[in-house]
Amino acid sequence: MDILGIDIGGSSIKAAPVNPVNGTLVKDRLHIPTPQPATPEAVSNIIAKIIADFNWTGPIGCGFPAVIRNGIACTAANIDPTWIGTNLVETFSAKTRGKVTVLNDADAAGLAEMHYGAGRNASGTTIIVTAGTGLGTALFRNNTLIPNTELGHIQLNGGSAEEFASAAVKTRLNLSYSEWAKRLDDYLHCLEDLFCPDLFVLGGEISNDHALFLPELTIKTTVMPATLRNDAGIIGAAAAFLL
Ligand code: BGC
Repeated sequence: MDILGIDIGGSSIKAAPVNPVNGTLVKDRLHIPTPQPATPEAVSNIIAKIIADFNWTGPIGCGFPAVIRNGIACTAANIDPTWIGTNLVETFSAKTRGKVTVLNDADAAGLAEMHYGAGRNASGTTIIVTAGTGLGTALFRNNTLIPNTELGHIQLNGGSAEEFASAAVKTRLNLSYSEWAKRLDDYLHCLEDLFCPDLFVLGGEISNDHALFLPELTIKTTVMPATLRNDAGIIGAAAAFLL
């Protein structure tokens, strides 16, 4: 059975029905700017519109840019702070008859890459890093997700890594790929020292441009670009339903 995958991000909300057997989009995806402020009511109204546009009555998987515990948002770095303490499963379930599951957006992208993408044959420790509005991470040990790692918020150069190396920082400071690659490299060195991973998978909105920055990285760990590109969040959110 197909599952509607919804990837809620700080800048946009993307959604499409997904075939969870092979991890492919069954229809063209919808791409809607995240309302500002991205309050629970404003985002829920977009979710209702997506459900109506796809005429969807089946199961729904949502990726959300926050720590998610038992369906409840516990943080809100790039989304309205009124989400903290909100039960997302209950909030989105009010808009549909289908069953809803919610997980962290980077964990969703990571699940997709590990099951259908770049990490498919990986064993040992894999870290997926998604660089977009925020800096998201998903940590896997032998295909098992350790959820809600939030390694984008570790301290780097006197502040949060996200404020130093996200794609939003690249845009805001008008950095070239080469300049930004140095920042990403510092960040990956830090993760490498802390976790000794066997593989990094780099995804998020920068993944289409990987040829412009991957060759500049100096870490020892193998690095692969995310193969599902910007669809990983949608695919993984849907797949989370079954995995
Ligand atoms: C949030 C994470 C999220 C990441 C990517 C960070 O600011 O804290 O929960 O996964 O952004 O959206």
